[in-house]
Amino acid sequence: MPCSPTNPKPHADMTPSATYRFSAQSVDYFFGGRLSSLSKHCQKKSTVLLMDETVHALHGACFKDWDILTIPSGEQYKVQSTVDRIIGELIERKADRSFTLVGVGGGVVTDLTGYAASVYMRGISFGFLPTTLLAMVDASIGGKNGIDVGAYKNMVGVIRQPGFILYDWSFLRTLPDTLWSDGFAEVIKHACIRDAAAFRLLSSYDVKRLQKKSDILHGLIERNARMKSAIVRRDEFECNERRLLNFGHTLGHAIETVHQLSHGQAVAIGMVLASQLSAQRLGFSGTEKLQDVLQAYGLPITHRYDATKVLEVLRLDKKRVSLDMNEVLLERIGKGVVQKIALASFEEWVRQAAEAQQPAFRKPPKKS
Ligand SMILES: NC(=O)c1ccc[n+]([C@@H]2O[C@H](COP(=O)([O-])OP(=O)(O)OC[C@H]3O[C@@H](n4cnc5c(N)ncnc54)[C@H](O)[C@@H]3O)[C@@H](O)[C@H]2O)c1
Repeated sequence: MPCSPTNPKPHADMTPSATYRFSAQSVDYFFGGRLSSLSKHCQKKSTVLLMDETVHALHGACFKDWDILTIPSGEQYKVQSTVDRIIGELIERKADRSFTLVGVGGGVVTDLTGYAASVYMRGISFGFLPTTLLAMVDASIGGKNGIDVGAYKNMVGVIRQPGFILYDWSFLRTLPDTLWSDGFAEVIKHACIRDAAAFRLLSSYDVKRLQKKSDILHGLIERNARMKSAIVRRDEFECNERRLLNFGHTLGHAIETVHQLSHGQAVAIGMVLASQLSAQRLGFSGTEKLQDVLQAYGLPITHRYDATKVLEVLRLDKKRVSLDMNEVLLERIGKGVVQKIALASFEEWVRQAAEAQQPAFRKPPKKS
């Protein structure tokens, strides 16, 4: 694979494109940076790169002379035993508090990196080179770094920010179709809750056509990263506005856990369900538009789910507060709101919605 990016910005190596100040840490963002400039952000002799086997096979050769720690690929490895292994490897290297752990990968690797770095010696520095669209627009931003426990996703974790996030667009060249779609689920989510203009832009393309428009695509990724960062900066510990980022995730996570869908697919279904609930409660009228966009980006809009099992998972959801759920609804495209819904009526609606689910996909919209 080529080790150079498409059109790096002239200043991209050293001067951050943006810096966001969070409660305990400033994060430098390098949009269109080059992975070859990594040594400007951390010292080779005191840095360990964490990669999964897939990313290592595709891009590992670009990191000559770096100390690379490789873990198996997949969500099933986002667990404590992998963290224990990472910590064991750091101890073996006699890594002290001057060390930096850099996650080069998708959301699984960025979550593991942030979590392991936060607990090792009560916290060492870490940074990210996100390699999937989802990691670029979502997982690497905001400081939530968690691992799964049994069936429960992200049940254990910390909120702690990386020192830098280096966006090298060349990673995207090897991304398979399913991961493009998964990433776009989060891009569509951001557009729904806060960015009607981005929603219109997404509506005028589809996944294949947007992949070929690299300038527009990179601009959209940057816009998403900045949007999420701004929300998190205003509400780092999710007391308020940050909850909007959970649009489609309450039911989505539960359906993902029970039905083995990808994160993006589950979130897509969760967003459709949340928009239907928005129609009932707030008169939202954009569900069809949302379904069209999701399908244009290769995402499902419906899935038969087992309401009883989904509810079991939901009862342990972090978005639940005593007997209420904090559910994100849409007033209109571009305007999300958080509503407290009594757990009992939410559960009743989850059961009804399960009965209405269709097994098949709607016919994809025609694109001009
Ligand atoms: N911390 C957060 O705020 C946050 C937000 C959203 C999602 N997440 C987490 O992110 C994870 C999902 O992330 P993901 O979708 O990136 O999955 P992932 O990290 O599992 O990556 C998916 C697959 O793609 C491969 N891959 C990565 N980069 C590639 C590339 N450039 N080319 C080809 N293959 C590549 C990986 O090896 C892996 O096999 C979930 O665990 C989710 O909980 C975290």
